[in-house]
Amino acid sequence: MTGKTKIAAKTFLKKGKLFQSIKGMADILPIDQDYWRSFWQTAFKVSSRHGFYFIETPILEPASLFEASIGATTDIVEKQMYVFKTPGGDRVALRPEGTAGVMRSYLQHRLSYFSLPLKVFYLGPMFRHEKPQAGRYRQFHQLGFEIIGDNSAFYDAEIILASLDFFRALGLNDLILKINSLGCRVCRLAFRQELKNYFSAYKKELCPDCRRRLGRNPLRILDCQEPSCRTLKSGSPNILDYLCQNCNNHFKAVLELIEDNGIKYELDPHLVRGLDYYNRTVFEFVSSGLSFSLGGGGRYDYLAEIIGHRLVPAVGISLGLERIVEALKIKNISPIKRKRPLVFFAAISEEAKKKSLGLMEKLRAADIPVVEALGRNSLKSQMKAADKVKSSLVLILGQKEIFEGSIIIKDLRTGAQENILLDKLVEEIKKRLS
Ligand code: HAM
Repeated sequence: MTGKTKIAAKTFLKKGKLFQSIKGMADILPIDQDYWRSFWQTAFKVSSRHGFYFIETPILEPASLFEASIGATTDIVEKQMYVFKTPGGDRVALRPEGTAGVMRSYLQHRLSYFSLPLKVFYLGPMFRHEKPQAGRYRQFHQLGFEIIGDNSAFYDAEIILASLDFFRALGLNDLILKINSLGCRVCRLAFRQELKNYFSAYKKELCPDCRRRLGRNPLRILDCQEPSCRTLKSGSPNILDYLCQNCNNHFKAVLELIEDNGIKYELDPHLVRGLDYYNRTVFEFVSSGLSFSLGGGGRYDYLAEIIGHRLVPAVGISLGLERIVEALKIKNISPIKRKRPLVFFAAISEEAKKKSLGLMEKLRAADIPVVEALGRNSLKSQMKAADKVKSSLVLILGQKEIFEGSIIIKDLRTGAQENILLDKLVEEIKKRLS
């Protein structure tokens, strides 16, 4: 801390205020640890079932990577990115999403060498300067699945199946898949023109952003949440009427594959998503009773080319983990519980405290979770702590026990108490916990 920041912090505290987290950026608290534990565990389980490898890219990337890939006229690039200059003068951005960084990494490290195609997943924080509200934060976490290097409809379906595998493993079974196709560069041109013609007739009713976007990127209007633009959207041309033969065949193949696997879906011809790098299939998962989507993605065959390389077909999805926590809470679905620390270790002399660390290590080496409150001196206050963490067994070590080479086991479930030899500690605890 520099002298100046020290003074600033002191003045702040003198005013009687405690530091608060930045608006829209929440702490993940211990009370929610079971949710996050199950996200990590389930992400690895589902990924290994489907053959995805873990990848982690930096939180900071060149700002131009996102500007080029997400699109200059998207809300993310126009309004939501945290962009700043580093002391060395580089323009960088906190990543607003994970796909661009993963593709950058794929090209940089020539990961095509390993790909048949390459299947990767990531889990980490993303940053968007949005208006905070339920389900919308400025720092949030995404679990992403990306498949890079294949244009087959099979992989569009595989991304959807892997996501559903994750949702189901968490107990979320009522998801609705909304799906659409955005066509390719060629067939989208005709649709764009039709859309432009349609919205030009209502220019005055469009919000200022959409009026501005009408010339450059009329597809963005379909993603606008302003009530006036949403009303106009309902009468707009349907992209599915403009798909070329190849895009039509691809979309039909995706729908057939998901139908064959018993996945219910809703066609949504106005679904364009908030990022410009998509082509062909786009999709989102929504759930009844929630006003926000739990995940979204699609095909992005042109992204590699946009960021300066050849065409590399790819498809992926990201799931919003804070939103999934909210969904699980609303639907009263419990996450996977951690192993509770069933054994509490209490020590009632300085010498006993010294010995306790080694004994707890022995238990932990046998995979028995143990907790303690060795900063407290009296047995009474240590027993209170044992009660607070809802332990089943308490081990009590005092001078007498050290002398005898024994320890007291108190079973809080029955109130029974007995002395056992320290040599038999692990064996006796296992017997009582089984
Ligand atoms: P996205 O639709 O921008 O797509 O975000 C994906 C998911 O992240 C959303 O469905 C939502 O659950 C969550 N999310 C987005 N913004 C917020 C926010 N402000 N607060 C909380 N949760 C949020 C992408 O990010 C693409 N990279 C998805 C993708 C992967 N496409 C291909 N591969």
